[in-house]
Amino acid sequence: MTDKVAELVSKCLEARDRAYCPYSRFPVGAAILTADGAIITGCNVENASFGLTVCAERTAIQRAVAEGHRRFTAIAVTCDIKDRFVGPCGACRQVLMEFGSDWTVYLTKPDGAYKETRLSELLPLAFSPEHLADNQ
Ligand code: THU
Repeated sequence: MTDKVAELVSKCLEARDRAYCPYSRFPVGAAILTADGAIITGCNVENASFGLTVCAERTAIQRAVAEGHRRFTAIAVTCDIKDRFVGPCGACRQVLMEFGSDWTVYLTKPDGAYKETRLSELLPLAFSPEHLADNQ
């Protein structure tokens, strides 16, 4: 594991500890690596009006964009499930795809073990901004 991946994994685990999830009690953490080497984290933030809950991955990407980043290389995601690798929900896969299909996705267990995958594998035949451009 490179130092940068180790840092990404450790930051997603820290972010999970800041999750606000009083309803589901299912904490999730995410850490995004930008093309210029910055790491931006997110956690799930729930709401008493349940449908307003925002996932960890989307919290992270919205933060990253608001802080001026648009080019990303990787995201690490974790939750509390110990015995298998858990992927981002479908909505989050689509939101990541907005910024390109060329993401490495590290599905991370609570002990820091991870499985490396790609956004293009997780969301094949995706709808993306290019489809809108093709139709102009
Ligand atoms: N959650 C995430 O943060 N990311 C995902 O990809 C899947 C689900 C959150 C939303 C909710 O707060 C809790 O996990 C249970 O669904």
